Amino acid sequence: MTQPRITITDDPAAAAAEKIAAVARARGHIALAGGRTPRAAYEQAAALVEDWSGVTLWFGDDRAVGPNDERSNYRLAREALLDRIAGPAPVVHRIHGEEGYEAAAGAYAETLRAVFGEGVPALDLILLGIGGDGHTASLFPGTPALAVTDQPVVGVPEPGLEPFVPRITFTFPALNAAREVVFLIEGEGKAEAVRRAFGSPPDPAAPSAHVRPDPGTLTVLLDPPAAAQLEGPA
Ligand code: 6PG
Repeated sequence: MTQPRITITDDPAAAAAEKIAAVARARGHIALAGGRTPRAAYEQAAALVEDWSGVTLWFGDDRAVGPNDERSNYRLAREALLDRIAGPAPVVHRIHGEEGYEAAAGAYAETLRAVFGEGVPALDLILLGIGGDGHTASLFPGTPALAVTDQPVVGVPEPGLEPFVPRITFTFPALNAAREVVFLIEGEGKAEAVRRAFGSPPDPAAPSAHVRPDPGTLTVLLDPPAAAQLEGPA
Protein backbone atom coordinates (compact mmCIF):
# COMPACT_ATOMS: atom_id res chain seq x y z
CA MET A 1 0.00 0.00 0.00
CA THR A 2 1.45 3.35 -1.07
CA GLN A 3 2.26 5.57 1.89
CA PRO A 4 1.52 9.28 1.27
CA ARG A 5 4.55 11.55 1.25
CA ILE A 6 3.33 14.44 3.44
CA THR A 7 4.90 17.86 2.82
CA ILE A 8 3.88 20.73 5.09
CA THR A 9 4.89 24.14 3.74
CA ASP A 10 3.76 27.74 3.99
CA ASP A 11 3.52 27.83 0.18
CA PRO A 12 2.08 24.57 -1.12
CA ALA A 13 1.05 26.29 -4.35
CA ALA A 14 4.71 26.92 -5.19
CA ALA A 15 5.55 23.28 -4.49
CA ALA A 16 2.68 22.15 -6.72
CA ALA A 17 3.78 24.55 -9.47
CA GLU A 18 7.24 22.96 -9.41
CA LYS A 19 5.69 19.49 -9.70
CA ILE A 20 3.62 20.60 -12.69
CA ALA A 21 6.58 22.35 -14.31
CA ALA A 22 8.82 19.29 -13.98
CA VAL A 23 6.33 17.11 -15.87
CA ALA A 24 5.71 19.89 -18.40
CA ARG A 25 9.46 20.10 -19.11
CA ALA A 26 9.39 16.31 -19.65
CA ARG A 27 6.51 16.74 -22.13
CA GLY A 28 4.23 14.52 -20.05
CA HIS A 29 0.51 13.98 -19.52
CA ILE A 30 -0.93 16.05 -16.66
CA ALA A 31 -4.48 15.99 -15.26
CA LEU A 32 -5.46 19.25 -13.59
CA ALA A 33 -7.66 19.65 -10.53
CA GLY A 34 -10.61 21.97 -10.22
CA GLY A 35 -11.98 24.06 -7.41
CA ARG A 36 -10.43 27.26 -6.06
CA THR A 37 -7.17 26.09 -4.49
CA PRO A 38 -5.09 25.36 -7.61
CA ARG A 39 -5.34 28.83 -9.18
CA ALA A 40 -2.07 30.17 -7.71
CA ALA A 41 -0.21 26.97 -8.58
CA TYR A 42 -1.33 27.20 -12.21
CA GLU A 43 -0.33 30.86 -12.44
CA GLN A 44 3.13 30.02 -11.06
CA ALA A 45 3.51 26.99 -13.36
CA ALA A 46 2.79 29.19 -16.40
CA ALA A 47 5.64 31.45 -15.30
CA LEU A 48 8.03 28.55 -14.74
CA VAL A 49 7.72 26.96 -18.20
CA GLU A 50 7.58 28.91 -21.46
CA ASP A 51 7.37 26.11 -24.03
CA TRP A 52 4.51 23.67 -23.38
CA SER A 53 4.71 21.98 -26.78
CA GLY A 54 4.50 18.22 -26.38
CA VAL A 55 2.67 18.53 -23.06
CA THR A 56 -0.83 17.06 -22.87
CA LEU A 57 -3.27 18.47 -20.33
CA TRP A 58 -6.31 16.55 -19.07
CA PHE A 59 -8.86 17.21 -16.33
CA GLY A 60 -9.35 14.88 -13.38
CA ASP A 61 -12.94 16.06 -13.32
CA ASP A 62 -15.19 18.85 -14.43
CA ARG A 63 -18.69 20.07 -13.97
CA ALA A 64 -21.27 19.34 -16.72
CA VAL A 65 -21.20 22.95 -17.89
CA GLY A 66 -19.74 24.85 -20.83
CA PRO A 67 -16.17 26.18 -20.97
CA ASN A 68 -17.16 29.75 -20.15
CA ASP A 69 -19.32 28.86 -17.16
CA GLU A 70 -17.87 30.23 -13.93
CA ARG A 71 -18.19 26.73 -12.44
CA SER A 72 -16.02 25.18 -15.16
CA ASN A 73 -12.69 23.70 -14.06
CA TYR A 74 -11.52 24.17 -17.64
CA ARG A 75 -12.25 27.90 -17.35
CA LEU A 76 -10.08 28.03 -14.21
CA ALA A 77 -7.22 26.36 -16.10
CA ARG A 78 -7.70 28.63 -19.11
CA GLU A 79 -7.58 31.79 -16.99
CA ALA A 80 -4.81 30.73 -14.58
CA LEU A 81 -2.60 28.67 -16.89
CA LEU A 82 -3.40 28.46 -20.60
CA ASP A 83 -3.86 32.18 -21.20
CA ARG A 84 -0.60 32.86 -19.33
CA ILE A 85 1.66 30.51 -21.28
CA ALA A 86 4.10 32.72 -23.21
CA GLY A 87 5.42 30.13 -25.66
CA PRO A 88 4.05 27.13 -27.59
CA ALA A 89 0.82 25.74 -26.17
CA PRO A 90 0.08 22.26 -24.83
CA VAL A 91 -2.46 19.86 -26.23
CA VAL A 92 -5.58 20.29 -24.06
CA HIS A 93 -8.31 17.66 -23.77
CA ARG A 94 -11.28 19.49 -22.31
CA ILE A 95 -14.22 17.57 -20.87
CA HIS A 96 -17.21 18.67 -22.98
CA GLY A 97 -19.57 19.01 -20.06
CA GLU A 98 -22.06 21.01 -22.09
CA GLU A 99 -22.98 17.73 -23.83
CA GLY A 100 -24.35 16.38 -20.56
CA TYR A 101 -22.56 14.23 -18.00
CA GLU A 102 -23.22 10.86 -19.65
CA ALA A 103 -22.21 11.84 -23.19
CA ALA A 104 -19.24 13.85 -21.93
CA ALA A 105 -17.96 10.95 -19.81
CA GLY A 106 -18.25 8.53 -22.73
CA ALA A 107 -16.47 10.90 -25.09
CA TYR A 108 -13.68 11.54 -22.59
CA ALA A 109 -13.16 7.82 -22.04
CA GLU A 110 -12.91 7.44 -25.82
CA THR A 111 -10.32 10.21 -26.06
CA LEU A 112 -8.27 8.58 -23.30
CA ARG A 113 -8.51 5.26 -25.15
CA ALA A 114 -7.41 6.88 -28.41
CA VAL A 115 -4.33 8.33 -26.72
CA PHE A 116 -3.41 5.60 -24.22
CA GLY A 117 -4.87 2.54 -25.93
CA GLU A 118 -6.91 -0.14 -24.20
CA GLY A 119 -6.67 -0.60 -20.46
CA VAL A 120 -6.34 1.97 -17.72
CA PRO A 121 -4.65 5.22 -18.86
CA ALA A 122 -1.45 5.96 -16.91
CA LEU A 123 -0.90 9.69 -16.75
CA ASP A 124 2.41 11.12 -15.57
CA LEU A 125 0.89 13.50 -13.02
CA ILE A 126 -2.59 13.91 -11.58
CA LEU A 127 -3.18 16.98 -9.41
CA LEU A 128 -6.05 16.67 -6.93
CA GLY A 129 -7.80 18.65 -4.24
CA ILE A 130 -9.90 17.45 -1.33
CA GLY A 131 -13.30 18.54 -0.14
CA GLY A 132 -14.36 18.91 3.47
CA ASP A 133 -16.32 15.65 3.09
CA GLY A 134 -13.20 13.81 1.95
CA HIS A 135 -14.10 13.75 -1.73
CA THR A 136 -11.54 14.20 -4.46
CA ALA A 137 -12.10 14.94 -8.13
CA SER A 138 -15.85 14.29 -8.22
CA LEU A 139 -15.72 11.06 -6.23
CA PHE A 140 -18.11 11.88 -3.40
CA PRO A 141 -18.85 9.73 -0.33
CA GLY A 142 -21.55 7.12 -0.80
CA THR A 143 -21.89 7.54 -4.57
CA PRO A 144 -21.88 4.83 -7.27
CA ALA A 145 -18.80 6.31 -8.95
CA LEU A 146 -16.68 5.03 -6.06
CA ALA A 147 -17.33 1.45 -7.15
CA VAL A 148 -16.56 1.87 -10.86
CA THR A 149 -13.57 -0.23 -11.84
CA ASP A 150 -14.13 -0.92 -15.55
CA GLN A 151 -14.03 2.67 -16.83
CA PRO A 152 -11.42 5.44 -16.41
CA VAL A 153 -14.12 8.14 -16.45
CA VAL A 154 -17.70 8.21 -15.24
CA GLY A 155 -20.61 10.61 -15.02
CA VAL A 156 -21.83 11.79 -11.62
CA PRO A 157 -25.50 12.81 -11.71
CA GLU A 158 -25.67 13.96 -8.09
CA PRO A 159 -22.51 15.48 -6.57
CA GLY A 160 -22.35 15.63 -2.82
CA LEU A 161 -21.25 19.24 -2.51
CA GLU A 162 -21.80 22.50 -4.31
CA PRO A 163 -21.86 23.33 -7.10
CA PHE A 164 -24.80 20.92 -7.31
CA VAL A 165 -24.41 20.29 -11.01
CA PRO A 166 -23.69 16.90 -12.55
CA ARG A 167 -20.00 16.07 -12.97
CA ILE A 168 -17.61 13.97 -15.00
CA THR A 169 -14.77 12.40 -13.05
CA PHE A 170 -11.81 10.09 -13.24
CA THR A 171 -12.44 6.88 -11.35
CA PHE A 172 -10.12 5.31 -8.76
CA PRO A 173 -8.44 3.01 -11.32
CA ALA A 174 -7.43 6.02 -13.44
CA LEU A 175 -6.25 8.01 -10.42
CA ASN A 176 -4.26 5.08 -9.04
CA ALA A 177 -2.60 4.28 -12.36
CA ALA A 178 -0.80 7.65 -12.42
CA ARG A 179 2.95 7.73 -12.05
CA GLU A 180 2.52 10.57 -9.57
CA VAL A 181 -0.51 11.89 -7.70
CA VAL A 182 -0.19 15.23 -5.92
CA PHE A 183 -2.83 16.59 -3.55
CA LEU A 184 -2.72 20.37 -3.06
CA ILE A 185 -4.60 21.33 0.11
CA GLU A 186 -4.84 24.59 2.01
CA GLY A 187 -6.78 25.90 4.98
CA GLU A 188 -7.99 24.74 8.39
CA GLY A 189 -11.35 23.84 6.86
CA LYS A 190 -9.68 20.79 5.27
CA ALA A 191 -7.83 19.62 8.41
CA GLU A 192 -10.37 16.93 9.35
CA ALA A 193 -10.61 15.64 5.78
CA VAL A 194 -6.80 15.50 5.64
CA ARG A 195 -6.69 13.47 8.86
CA ARG A 196 -9.37 11.07 7.57
CA ALA A 197 -7.68 10.66 4.19
CA PHE A 198 -4.01 10.58 5.13
CA GLY A 199 -3.86 9.91 8.87
CA SER A 200 -3.12 6.54 10.46
CA PRO A 201 -5.32 4.68 10.01
CA PRO A 202 -7.13 6.37 7.16
CA ASP A 203 -10.92 6.47 7.24
CA PRO A 204 -12.25 4.22 4.45
CA ALA A 205 -15.39 6.37 4.31
CA ALA A 206 -13.26 9.20 2.92
CA PRO A 207 -12.91 8.75 -0.86
CA SER A 208 -9.48 10.45 -0.81
CA ALA A 209 -8.26 7.62 1.45
CA HIS A 210 -8.59 5.31 -1.55
CA VAL A 211 -6.24 7.33 -3.76
CA ARG A 212 -3.13 5.22 -3.36
CA PRO A 213 -1.29 5.01 -6.70
CA ASP A 214 0.68 1.82 -7.11
CA PRO A 215 3.43 1.67 -8.25
CA GLY A 216 3.12 5.45 -8.58
CA THR A 217 3.88 7.95 -5.83
CA LEU A 218 1.48 9.96 -3.66
CA THR A 219 2.49 13.42 -2.42
CA VAL A 220 0.28 15.54 -0.17
CA LEU A 221 1.18 19.24 -0.16
CA LEU A 222 -0.32 20.98 2.87
CA ASP A 223 -0.14 24.35 4.52
CA PRO A 224 0.13 24.19 8.34
CA PRO A 225 -3.60 24.82 8.99
CA ALA A 226 -4.60 21.95 6.69
CA ALA A 227 -2.09 19.68 8.47
CA ALA A 228 -3.26 20.65 11.97
CA GLN A 229 -4.96 17.30 12.76
CA LEU A 230 -2.17 15.08 11.50
CA GLU A 231 -0.21 13.50 14.35
CA GLY A 232 3.56 13.27 14.77
CA PRO A 233 6.36 14.45 12.51
CA ALA A 234 5.35 14.72 8.90
C1 6PG B 1 -14.04 20.09 -8.21
C2 6PG B 1 -12.69 19.61 -7.77
C3 6PG B 1 -12.79 19.15 -6.36
C4 6PG B 1 -11.91 20.10 -5.58
C5 6PG B 1 -12.23 20.06 -4.11
C6 6PG B 1 -11.51 21.18 -3.38
O1 6PG B 1 -14.41 19.87 -9.37
O2 6PG B 1 -14.68 20.74 -7.39
O3 6PG B 1 -12.09 18.75 -8.58
O4 6PG B 1 -12.40 17.83 -6.10
O5 6PG B 1 -10.54 19.78 -5.80
O6 6PG B 1 -13.63 20.19 -3.95
O7 6PG B 1 -11.99 22.40 -3.91
P1 6PG B 1 -11.40 23.81 -3.38
O8 6PG B 1 -9.99 23.89 -3.89
O9 6PG B 1 -12.30 24.84 -4.02
O10 6PG B 1 -11.48 23.79 -1.88
